[in-house]
Amino acid sequence: MTALLQVKNLSRRYGKVRAVSDLCFEMGCGQITGFVGPNGAGKTTTMRIAATLDVPDGGDVLVDGTSVLVEPRLARMRIGYMSDQFHPYPNLDVMQFLDFFARAYGLRSRRRIETVHSVANFCGLGSFLDRPATGLSKGMGQRLHLAKTLLHDPALLILDEPASGLDPRARIEFRDLLKRLAAAGKGILISSHILPELGEMCDSVVVIEKGERVVAGAIGDVQREAQLEQTIVAKVTREADAEAMQRHLAELPMVGDVAVDGVQLRFAFVGDDDDLAGVLAGCVAAGYGLVEFSRDAADLEDIFLKTTKGRLQ
Ligand SMILES: Nc1ncnc2c1ncn2[C@@H]1O[C@H](COP(=O)(O)OP(=O)(O)O)[C@@H](O)[C@H]1O
Ligand SMILES: [Mg+2]
Repeated sequence: MTALLQVKNLSRRYGKVRAVSDLCFEMGCGQITGFVGPNGAGKTTTMRIAATLDVPDGGDVLVDGTSVLVEPRLARMRIGYMSDQFHPYPNLDVMQFLDFFARAYGLRSRRRIETVHSVANFCGLGSFLDRPATGLSKGMGQRLHLAKTLLHDPALLILDEPASGLDPRARIEFRDLLKRLAAAGKGILISSHILPELGEMCDSVVVIEKGERVVAGAIGDVQREAQLEQTIVAKVTREADAEAMQRHLAELPMVGDVAVDGVQLRFAFVGDDDDLAGVLAGCVAAGYGLVEFSRDAADLEDIFLKTTKGRLQ
């Protein structure tokens, strides 16, 4: 099966600056991939090329198998791009703004009206349709920006720092919208500096520095490759079981610190999925009344700090 997004040996220079160098990565449908790197790492450059807004010096980007260089118009229909800036046209209300872009995407008559309403409702803008587009709060403005991005029902969303400047509530609401879109099968490439935020929604990550790939892949794989600790959370039925399980875990070589809080345990773990399955099977076999056993949200900050060297350009 072809990956939804394939970045192939992408390179882009600006004079002497190598903004992107021989960058390769892939992502699939239904995935949320965090695109992480220090300022000037080349994230925006990569995203703009993928969105057909810039042309590389070398390499290509394929969206659903379509080259953004060979067939940019076709690729554009499959891409929803949210730039890192949003300046809606003045004198338009939310409805007119969305309607303008729906027309630009070739939606006609009843289908256009229906699409604008359903996208606005999905993004929580249903009761804001007659508000001036330029007068929205930052959070509502980002929802409008996202709504504009969804009108043509693209398979791939490319979102450049969409959560920057949002307050915590607006960030959480925005994250929930993205999770729903991924659950509906869309692939989402999202860059951000708010790393803990990304860790809660991304299943995979691409870390770049000075235009070059540092690591890429499923978050669990990346953590294992970098020999990073994962945090496992478990819950048992009785406090006595939690204490017994703590002693059991403390004996295992792949397990680090084990903390107990009532019937809950948290422990550090380094190993692959087979190792983790072995730990779980051991706990079940020992007869602890396990009711929960899961990985905690990934610590992207940890991945970022341990894989990048802080080289800026
Ligand atoms: N239009 C441009 N002209 C010259 N240099 C640019 C241009 N766009 C980006 N750059 C340079 O390319 C590098 C990568 O920038 P960018 O892709 O914006 O990084 P990021 O989004 O990761 O912060 C930086 O050194 C930046 O200064
Ligand atoms: Mg940027």
